[in-house]
Amino acid sequence: MKALVLSGGKGTRLRPLTHTMPKQLVPVANEPILGYVFRHIRDAGIKEVGVVVSPETQNDVRGFLGKGSRWRIRVTYILQQEPLGLAHAVKIARPFLGNSPFVMYLGDNLLAQGIKEFMEEFDSENLDGLIFLKEVENPRAFGVAKLNKKGQVVKLVEKPKTPPSNLALVGVYFFSPKIHKAIDRIKPSARGELEITDAIQELMRSGGSVKGQILEDWWLDTGKKDDFLEANTVVLDDYIKRDIKGKVDRKSKVIGRVQIEKGAKIINSNLRGPVVIGKRCEIVDSFIGPHTTIGHGTRIINSAIEHSVIMDKCYIENITRLEDSLIGREARVLHQKNQSRALRLLIGDNNVVEV
Ligand code: G1P
Repeated sequence: MKALVLSGGKGTRLRPLTHTMPKQLVPVANEPILGYVFRHIRDAGIKEVGVVVSPETQNDVRGFLGKGSRWRIRVTYILQQEPLGLAHAVKIARPFLGNSPFVMYLGDNLLAQGIKEFMEEFDSENLDGLIFLKEVENPRAFGVAKLNKKGQVVKLVEKPKTPPSNLALVGVYFFSPKIHKAIDRIKPSARGELEITDAIQELMRSGGSVKGQILEDWWLDTGKKDDFLEANTVVLDDYIKRDIKGKVDRKSKVIGRVQIEKGAKIINSNLRGPVVIGKRCEIVDSFIGPHTTIGHGTRIINSAIEHSVIMDKCYIENITRLEDSLIGREARVLHQKNQSRALRLLIGDNNVVEV
């Protein structure tokens, strides 16, 4: 079994953050999403991974993954010059994939439970396709499945105007090499892309055995701001343990599951978990509330922050209340005197905001 990780795209829905970093590298609890994807692949015992990159993302993605040795994985990079669709990505990866079955994992998707069990299921049931479905509120934004009374998938449509159900296709798919012939037979969609959804539909039409399974646990598509904050919340809820490596002075209180990394200093502040504080942070005279991640080297002075992601090397001073916010690297948010109402911000890297 090989893996194909898709890490291209322009990340338009996460702008302005994605002007300066690929969406797959936006950190959740101080770890890029792609890091979780690689962990899941490693835990399933897969050793060979093809990573599809775009001209915009390739340098950053290569910088983070390298040759894959951190996960004991061998990475092969595959350059997709233009965003011509997920099935197109499989097409150009064919020399890497050869005749091997593979799991395709979209690099901005996150599954709660990893993929090991699903891989075993795919192998033992001799399937040509194993796909995952999850109920969503806005099926128009996804590939959508129609099931029959027995719960079998009978139809798949990409971004339908009138969705046949509210079951979205999750961005993790297992395929046998039969998918390649199906891809050869499909035509680009209205948005000009070779859709993997259409290829799976074609695989079913031509007699391939495709199983659709409804996911019990959470799944996150981190491509948008609110989904991204939700991803941070869910990951902090599920993965964070109390672990205090930095220094906490006597005037500070640290309550619940709070992770404070090396070199961080907490001075006269209250922290209420689940919270992650990155390396070398300084939190002074502040409150950091539940579901907040503070990136490495960030300084927070005389402020209160809750349910937010503040990335690396930011500076926040005199902000009475900041919530539901996503703040890019090296951004500065300052106020001369304390402001009174809550702020909700989406700020890219290197910005300065005075309120
Ligand atoms: C892609 C797929 C879609 C799937 C989604 C999951 O959509 O085309 O079928 O439901 O990923 O994240 P995109 O992210 O390209 O809009």
